[in-house]
Amino acid sequence: MQTDSSFTFVLFGGTGDLSMRKILPALFEAHRAGGMLADSGKIVAVARHVADRADYLEWVNEHVKPHVSKNGVDETAWASFLDRIEFVKIDLGNPEDFALLRDAVSDMPGIRVFYLATGPSLFVPICRALASVGLNENSRIVLEKPLGYDLKSSNAINDAVGEIFAEEQIYRIDHYLGKEPVQNLLALRFGNVLFEPLWRREWVESIQITIAEELGVEARGDFYDNTGALRDMVQNHLLQLLSIVAMEPPHSMDSDSVRDEKLRVLRALKPIDPRDISKIAVRGQYHAGVIRGNAVPAYATEPGVKPDSTTETFVAVKVEIENWRWAGVPFFLRTGKRLADRVAEIVVNFRAVPHSALGASALRGGANRLVIRLQPNETIRLYCLAKQPGEGMNLASVHLDLAFDRFFREGQMEAYQRLLLDVINGRLALFVRRDEQEAAWRWVEPILDEWAASHKPPKPYAAGTWGPAAASAMLAQHDTCWLEEEN
Ligand code: BG6
Repeated sequence: MQTDSSFTFVLFGGTGDLSMRKILPALFEAHRAGGMLADSGKIVAVARHVADRADYLEWVNEHVKPHVSKNGVDETAWASFLDRIEFVKIDLGNPEDFALLRDAVSDMPGIRVFYLATGPSLFVPICRALASVGLNENSRIVLEKPLGYDLKSSNAINDAVGEIFAEEQIYRIDHYLGKEPVQNLLALRFGNVLFEPLWRREWVESIQITIAEELGVEARGDFYDNTGALRDMVQNHLLQLLSIVAMEPPHSMDSDSVRDEKLRVLRALKPIDPRDISKIAVRGQYHAGVIRGNAVPAYATEPGVKPDSTTETFVAVKVEIENWRWAGVPFFLRTGKRLADRVAEIVVNFRAVPHSALGASALRGGANRLVIRLQPNETIRLYCLAKQPGEGMNLASVHLDLAFDRFFREGQMEAYQRLLLDVINGRLALFVRRDEQEAAWRWVEPILDEWAASHKPPKPYAAGTWGPAAASAMLAQHDTCWLEEEN
């Protein structure tokens, strides 16, 4: 894809963890691929603790380079990438410094993108300071999650940012929407006639969406302890995945057609009755344990975490969607840190056949199942029953595999790369609109409130397991189990 959309990409939080691990590596990959970024496009890093451009480039060499291209860096491409980078030293506490930024970017070409890879408390001050020097014109602003702490604080940020930038200038990033298999789910659902007739309550028994991590809270204990898994993963990534799985076919793939359909799902989520929370939601916190042979410490002893913390590092929750397509079908969402494996997947369990002439095994639920593996090893796998070779009619589970790397050897893109290119090219479909975000907060808030009011500690689970037993018990009540518990 050849582009001539020129741009000036201003990166606030230029020395932060996200810039180091994700944003700059993604920009480098787009640069290295050739043709994706206009030659004239510039990156302007903003940071406080770095003296000048030379210092910043040194930091980039030392900290960003190890995160790009695992198979070694193309040195020529790396050198020309560094040529794109400018630096402006700004103390965000000092709005007058923004005149320096205005002067630095005034002659730079194309659309201006302001990427706020900072804590949410800085979003509004940065937007106001940008407006004070006229930089909100001809520009786009990218807001990283978490956007607020609850509905009220997220509304306060959105109101204030909305006074400065129009909604179509605001790109709220949820990197799960940029993952290739999530895009592929749209292609699978809306590019094929096969699945649509089955994609409904008549044929689907239950759906699971899991994002499991082996990692703990790393260096983010302080942030995480004030956030927890429900805010960090469920309110955004998991509900976004749910809305893509459950949405109606959009009229087109333009930004608002897709987002309107996702919003309808979020608005149709069955509101949570606080009295039911112990039945439909499980929260856990990891204790010390062993992952792949390595002992790992308890969450409460991680740096930055309060020793008596009641923050959840695991959530499993049952969600229902009140519409004709999905009424009565349970959607089980689950996420956790320090679990037994790193895996993100969507499991669609179809109902059993209504009558079996082939013996009882065909009457078991789960014989037909679609497993969409988002990471690692992106695949879509369709399970069916087939006859075992030999005498008699014995059925066994087999699967059809769509392993993307077998069909498409090249061109896979990291989520951040795709999303940054979308911002530069003005494509909003994979970004969260304000009303979607509000609907998601509105749905999770009763759980947050009830957990805060109950003062009950989260259920313990050993690191390296699949979370508290209560998460399995919740599914058992629906005669089902998590995918890894099969067999
Ligand atoms: C982030 C969360 O949004 O997503 C992190 O803040 C989490 O806590 C991460 O680790 C998971 O993303 P991925 O792409 O590594 O699965």
